[in-house]
Amino acid sequence: MMSRMDEKQLKTEISELKKSKNALILVHNYQVMEVQEIGDFVGDSLELARKAVEARKPLIVFCGVRFMAETAKILNPQAKVLIPRDDAGCPMADMITRDDVIELKQKYPDAVVCSYVNTNADVKAETDICCTSANAVEVVRSLDNRRIIFTPDRNLASFVREKVNTEIIPFDGYCYVHTRFTPEDIKLSRQAHPDALVLVHPECNPEVVHLADEVLSTSGMLRFAKNSSAREFIIATEEGLIERMRNVMPDKRFYSAGRAHFCFNMKKIRLEDVYLSLRDEIYEIEIDPEVMRRARGSLERMISLTS
Ligand code: 13P
Ligand code: SF4
Repeated sequence: MMSRMDEKQLKTEISELKKSKNALILVHNYQVMEVQEIGDFVGDSLELARKAVEARKPLIVFCGVRFMAETAKILNPQAKVLIPRDDAGCPMADMITRDDVIELKQKYPDAVVCSYVNTNADVKAETDICCTSANAVEVVRSLDNRRIIFTPDRNLASFVREKVNTEIIPFDGYCYVHTRFTPEDIKLSRQAHPDALVLVHPECNPEVVHLADEVLSTSGMLRFAKNSSAREFIIATEEGLIERMRNVMPDKRFYSAGRAHFCFNMKKIRLEDVYLSLRDEIYEIEIDPEVMRRARGSLERMISLTS
């Protein structure tokens, strides 16, 4: 049994293990602050996927949810990729199966399949091109095809559909965190903070997206707030990003649009899990080689398009 270490000791141990094992720690913007603090890089899904491609390290510890760690493994198969909690999944990714995609392809044989990276590897293997919240419109615009099957997020599909001249066939998935924000939340927040700009993640319902000043990925929100002359922002996304924005820009004000909402799976990884992950090399991401080969195609098409 390991005796309990305090935060400082854990951070020291993590840093030493990281050095001795030549590891890279990638962290999503929604992770708890103590984990963000030990990351080599903290970012959104697209930035983290790019970091995984560029990583010249034999070991990657991915602090996020499983589909993100899988994406890192698929894009960098030589590296050993670990996720510190093997139960950190994304409920939206689990809403769609490989069979659902195959069925849609049979129903619409002329359509191209575009899947949000928030999907499991076997769904990516049935996908023509992936996208993230940061590049979904750009990815769909790049496709010559007039008909696109868009999985699994119906709200990102709806956001894209309003920006392109293409038929979009959405799957009916959603994020339980983002769909909790309501138009009333935005209206009341605007009344309380009339000078604030409203930044909304495209996983929110269309009625909420329509009330936004800007619709952006998590890192897109961070960059926008940094570059904006505005001092106050109302944010409709998971609370971890709002906390990060407050830390990065202490001179600006950030308010959640209504109550704070949390992604419970994103909050599972704590410093102790990262320490154990590095020490014992758990939990390794393993994907069937054929699934991996096919999934890589859909991810690499996205990466090469938007790099
Ligand atoms: P970003 O790529 O914008 O960070 O979004 C990931 C996600 O899971 C949002 O819920
Ligand atoms: Fe999945 Fe939503 Fe959590 Fe993002 S916030 S990881 S989409 S459940």
